[in-house]
Amino acid sequence: MDIIHVQGSGPLRGEIQIQGSKNAVLPILAAAVLIEGTCCLKNCPHISDVNCMCRLLESMGCSTYWDEDGLKVDTSTLKESRLPKELVTSMRSSIILLGPLLARCKEASLDYPGGCVIGDRPIDMHLHLLKEMGAVFTIQNEHIAGLAEQLTGTTIRLPFPSVGTTENGILASVMAKGRTTLLNCALEPEVQQLCHFLNAAGAKIEGVGTDCLRIEGVEKLYPVTYMIEADRIVAGTYIFSAVATMGRIGILNTPVKELDSVLEVVKQMGCRLSLEGKHLEVWQKERPKAVSLVQTQVYPGFPTDLQSVLMTTLAVSDGESQIEENIFSNRFKIAGELVRMGAEIRIEGRRARIKGKEKLYAMSLLAEDLRGGAALVLAGICAQGNSLIGNCHYIERGYEDICRDYRFLGAAVEKIVRS
Ligand code: EPU
Repeated sequence: MDIIHVQGSGPLRGEIQIQGSKNAVLPILAAAVLIEGTCCLKNCPHISDVNCMCRLLESMGCSTYWDEDGLKVDTSTLKESRLPKELVTSMRSSIILLGPLLARCKEASLDYPGGCVIGDRPIDMHLHLLKEMGAVFTIQNEHIAGLAEQLTGTTIRLPFPSVGTTENGILASVMAKGRTTLLNCALEPEVQQLCHFLNAAGAKIEGVGTDCLRIEGVEKLYPVTYMIEADRIVAGTYIFSAVATMGRIGILNTPVKELDSVLEVVKQMGCRLSLEGKHLEVWQKERPKAVSLVQTQVYPGFPTDLQSVLMTTLAVSDGESQIEENIFSNRFKIAGELVRMGAEIRIEGRRARIKGKEKLYAMSLLAEDLRGGAALVLAGICAQGNSLIGNCHYIERGYEDICRDYRFLGAAVEKIVRS
């Protein structure tokens, strides 16, 4: 098992470039299934979830390769609509292949998806939406077999603005017969990027960026070259890292608009921000102040994917704070590890009460999910002494090289490869 070695360090200082967005590129790779020919994704992050999605596409007969322009995906040789269990169960995003497979192959066969264990992650909304469009499913022992002779447009209101369900709805609709209206859609920037990619390929999606998408089915989509935007969650991770360590860092390509709710919180913590174009300077002069309550919400609210790094930051802040997690049912897993490091955190249902401590102590820690893993690396940087973080493969699902990034910012963080 590979581990990350972290030496407690002082304030972070330096400049950093943010990788392309994981949660944008995964549905865009699924969208490539609908496009015969070769698409090129520029600024695609080199992360294990992208590798896993590429292996899923290859298992369907597509080819994927990297060159100097980015990631190329050629789906003209796609012939297989059954997805291998070991890949599907290792990543939640495999479920967003269901819509495109039904659209292109008229059938799909896959197991229930896996992914980070951060609470119940049912797929009822995905299946309901696709059924409304004419798909029929047989489910046995967590295996899904779907058939759709002709996906047909209709009006569907999502019971909750789920990101993945909205994406599956878009992917199933762009080549469906007639017009689909999706109501109560997710507004996340990654959903918007999927729409921009598809519209560039010839789709007709209106209402992008609103909770009502109107999609007119088209006969054919065409290969495109598309630039993936910077990852707002990775950017947010380093913003909180500057705050927690009382550092001063520059982010060269900040997706500023997408970080509104995050920047509001760090300002409350006493952080100074200055922006020139996309260059954001983040400067925390004193120990961060506690915040009374931060609630995770769907976009444009505070993102659940930054809740763990926020928790680490509050664990070293001055005063008492509360976090309310409203998206996933079990996403406070790092609290136990932080408490072992000396943090004072009490979990009461959806709420975490955090009393900031001046010091955390180094420990051997175990990552249990992607974002929690990154938050433990930050905790190690804030702590006194040398920490070890196991299960770092979780972190590699979404961060190209967290050790490299933190080293750019002056911290001593290193991966130790164990054979
Ligand atoms: N939900 C259902 N039924 C469904 C689908 C979702 O009950 O059929 C529930 C989920 O259980 C959850 C809530 O709805 O409680 C929100 O889930 P959503 O579908 O919005 O999330 P997702 O599409 O599975 C994406 C991101 C997550 C991010 C969430 C919320 C990708 C690949 N994943 O997941 O990212 O936390 O949206 O913003 O886009 C991460 O990057 O670490 C990560 C987990």
